[in-house]
Amino acid sequence: ASIAEATMTGEGVRRRDFINIAAVSFAGVGGLAALYPLISQMAPSADVLAESSTEIDISAIAPGQAIKAVWRKQPVFIRNLTPEEISAAEKVDVSTLRDPETLEKRTTAGKTNWLITMGVCTHLGCVPLGAGEGEVKGEFGGYFCPCHGSVYDTAARIRKGPAPKNLEVPPHEFSSDTVVKIG
Ligand code: FES
Repeated sequence: ASIAEATMTGEGVRRRDFINIAAVSFAGVGGLAALYPLISQMAPSADVLAESSTEIDISAIAPGQAIKAVWRKQPVFIRNLTPEEISAAEKVDVSTLRDPETLEKRTTAGKTNWLITMGVCTHLGCVPLGAGEGEVKGEFGGYFCPCHGSVYDTAARIRKGPAPKNLEVPPHEFSSDTVVKIG
């Protein structure tokens, strides 16, 4: 019998199935083991989730700067957009975006310069760079995730790389012109 015929025998098929199943299970176990620290970090305990809100003084954040705050043990980026960054974000044809959202929808009316998002990449949860690391803002002027190269624009919308969604906007409101309450 030829090699092709031999692999079509029942034994050949069973062996191949076994190898496939073994490969899938190994990937499954390896994948879960690799993800566990991430999942445990991304799923805060009930106590932490019960933490209602946090107030952040934003008076020292100059236009063009972003800081990293913490809410529910997760990073939150608070960014003061320059007029140029606002117009760059508004010029984008939203229908071409992977996760189409306007800057207006992602910010508070009358305060479109304040962009507040979770600092958690929507791919696998790394913390993107660009908030408090000098000028690392990626090619679209927003944030860059060093884990697998996702690039977010000045409205923290996903523009390149594997992340499926924009950086999430957490619930927030302005207590005054200089204080924002997250949560
Ligand atoms: Fe950010 Fe993968 S976790 S690109």
